[in-house]
Amino acid sequence: MQERLKEIEDRFKQELSEVSSLKELKDLKVRYLGKKGSISQLARQLGKIPPEDRPAMGEAINRLKRLAEEEIKASESRVKEIEERTALEREALDITLPGRPPSVGSLHPITLVMEEIEKIFVSFGFQVAEGPEIEVDYYNFEALNIPLDHPARDMQDTFYISEELLLRTHTSPVQMRIMEKYTPPIRIIAPGKVYRCDADVSHTPMFHQVEGLMVGDDVTFTQLKGLLEEFARRIFGETKVRFRPSFFPFTEPSAEMDIGCVICKGKGCRVCGHSGWLEILGCGMVDPALYRYAGSAYDPEKITGFAFGLGVERIAMLKYGINDIRLFYENDLGFLGQFAYER
Ligand code: FA5
Ligand code: MG
Repeated sequence: MQERLKEIEDRFKQELSEVSSLKELKDLKVRYLGKKGSISQLARQLGKIPPEDRPAMGEAINRLKRLAEEEIKASESRVKEIEERTALEREALDITLPGRPPSVGSLHPITLVMEEIEKIFVSFGFQVAEGPEIEVDYYNFEALNIPLDHPARDMQDTFYISEELLLRTHTSPVQMRIMEKYTPPIRIIAPGKVYRCDADVSHTPMFHQVEGLMVGDDVTFTQLKGLLEEFARRIFGETKVRFRPSFFPFTEPSAEMDIGCVICKGKGCRVCGHSGWLEILGCGMVDPALYRYAGSAYDPEKITGFAFGLGVERIAMLKYGINDIRLFYENDLGFLGQFAYER
């Protein structure tokens, strides 16, 4: 038993010197001094030794018990210090590490293309105008020669706010707002958001148009064609362009301009509806019937004008080779981050 006592004492001292956390210290205390701890178990075996040896042995066990208690207590501050030191080392800052670069945003591809379109028309001598996105029926339809019962209203599936108020379906209402305010000559573009109940690979419910209007003496269809062809050259480089006769209640004659589909190189794909062409704008000579809404400065016998309305998303798709218009509005940063900040 004497030997066993010595063994426990040595092992205790050895283990105590290796303790490096308060948790380990607590476990050590349980292992030696707890109810089932080695020292307590030894004390329970006192009954098995000859009675004359018991007092000395009891005394020795008690001494070891006190020693263990005292040493554990004395170790507490040492262990605490070790713990604090390792915590500090773990949290230490390496000030030589390079910093994390802040993530710099980029402009939305539609914003980039809008700005480019504006720049081109400004260089042609156009001024930039604006109109409201929540429009009254009068400007969106009525004053564009589309009375309430006109079947052309079906061409643009509209979001109504009330009988009178709606989300504009095109940027054409800005035409009349400008003509009411200013006398000819006029040369403006009106960029902005428009809304239609539309959704597929080449249609979104919200999209952007840029309206153009030029009114004055001797404004001709030839000028309109030349202007739009030059615009296409500037924005796409050399590319195939075609004009198709079309119909709009507010222009006569009317046309639509298509660009050779860059996605399939004209072979036909789902974006161009397998035609090889993608429509980017509607245009025509301002219908003389509109001038009677515009005021006395607009004499249909003396002045002529042209107008056009182009789809910005369509232009961006062709420019960047994007095959689904809805990608612009899914807020996928991986997609949006690809477009260079080029201004
Ligand atoms: C118009 O909106 C006429 N206001 C254009 C116009 C203006 C004609 C002035 C004559 C004079 P249209 O509905 O075709 O026309 O739309 C014009 C362009 O907007 C289309 O060529 C197309 O490029 C784009 N577009 C139309 N609907 C959508 C849509 N849902 N999503 C994305 N782009 C669209
Ligand atoms: Mg159209």
